[in-house]
Amino acid sequence: MKSESIQPVKRLSGALELPGDKSISHRYAMLAALANGSSELRNFAAARDCYSTLGCVKALGAVVKVEGSKVQITGHGLRGLKSSWRTLDAENSGTTIRLLSGILSGQTFTTKITGDASLRKRPMKRVITPLREMGANIRSKDENFPPLEIHGGQLQGIHYQMPIASAQVKSAVLLAGLYAEGETSVTEPAATRDHTELALTEFGATVRKQGRTISVVGPTSAGNGDPALHGISADIPGDLSSAVFFVAAASLLPDSNLYIANVGLNPTRAGILDLFNRIGAAISVHNLQTKQGELIGDLSVKAAKLKGGVVSGDLVPVLIDELPMLAALGPFTEEGIEIRDAAELRVKESDRIAALAENLKRVGAKVEERPDGLRVEGRSAGKLHGAEIDPRGDHRIAMAFAIAGLGNTGETRILDADCAGVSYPNFFAELRRLAGVNSD
Ligand code: S3P
Repeated sequence: MKSESIQPVKRLSGALELPGDKSISHRYAMLAALANGSSELRNFAAARDCYSTLGCVKALGAVVKVEGSKVQITGHGLRGLKSSWRTLDAENSGTTIRLLSGILSGQTFTTKITGDASLRKRPMKRVITPLREMGANIRSKDENFPPLEIHGGQLQGIHYQMPIASAQVKSAVLLAGLYAEGETSVTEPAATRDHTELALTEFGATVRKQGRTISVVGPTSAGNGDPALHGISADIPGDLSSAVFFVAAASLLPDSNLYIANVGLNPTRAGILDLFNRIGAAISVHNLQTKQGELIGDLSVKAAKLKGGVVSGDLVPVLIDELPMLAALGPFTEEGIEIRDAAELRVKESDRIAALAENLKRVGAKVEERPDGLRVEGRSAGKLHGAEIDPRGDHRIAMAFAIAGLGNTGETRILDADCAGVSYPNFFAELRRLAGVNSD
């Protein structure tokens, strides 16, 4: 396993564009596989996770052509998927297995789907419960974990009151709703990313939103009137969750000046930018536009003194993937960072609360681990030193500590650094380029 050495630097400067958003790429790939005809998806995510989705939809009969970052997918309509003779492999990707579970619940055949050792420890009951209620027959390990065996069937629309704020659960139910008689609706306890709703509309499905309730219209009770999805031609915005690592680095390092073009700024994702600005960051937004219902813009970032503060409540779901970066920045802020109401972090690609606490301690930070978050002391608790970081196979932990390492004294070594490729294969190369550091 390859490790990466991070040395302190004074600035991050230059211009950058990110590969396509991971969440949007997953959704477009799945819906393109259910559409009649071809879709052209430009700036498709480079993330290993999204290639897991492409592998799955290919195994289910969609035609997939990849040319650099352009992906062309030809589907054969909502009822056009074929059964896969082999078990589908979602590898490390929770979005792949949970969203596909919704689609597979509407098929007339049986599918097995599994993933890597990390994914096989992640809870699936959250999607199994509503999908069973709609009529799917799903078997799983210990009633919760992959592998899943999904016997699809005739589904009925339900109204689902979601107990946790999860875009993946919401999406699984809405995607199953494409096959469910009547209307299927989901009420979320707090707003989560709305890419599925936007994508469904782009591909031609009928979606309604009222407050926190989102519904999709399935076939009519007469047994006809399947929603007809059509292919799309789309430019996928750069991934804000990847951009945030560079936003954090540029904020932290004194002589920084960074321009990030073409980033997805969907308000259900951009909570982290509001928070950064609230705690003193110097981020400005330019060239706002909307494509396929998604807000896109450029960001410019300069160094700033970060105050720190508390993240809790309804803010948590809209910046859930950015919390590792925020926590790793904690020791560089004036008041430190406190994260509450984020027990979900324990069931991500790793137990992110434990992984953050352990690695923060390794670099000399003062940290208190709690069941639903952590408190990281700010600058007054002392300077950080380099250390070996064990990301526990989790891409966001690896990248967060690589960024924090730029501000440490001495060398920080990120073990198993290749795991960053789950979302951002080029991360370390881009980091070296913007920091003006040679690779050897
Ligand atoms: C995602 C939703 C979030 C997020 C994950 C991607 C998505 O998970 O953490 O990285 O694409 O829908 P939950 O919805 O389970 O919180």
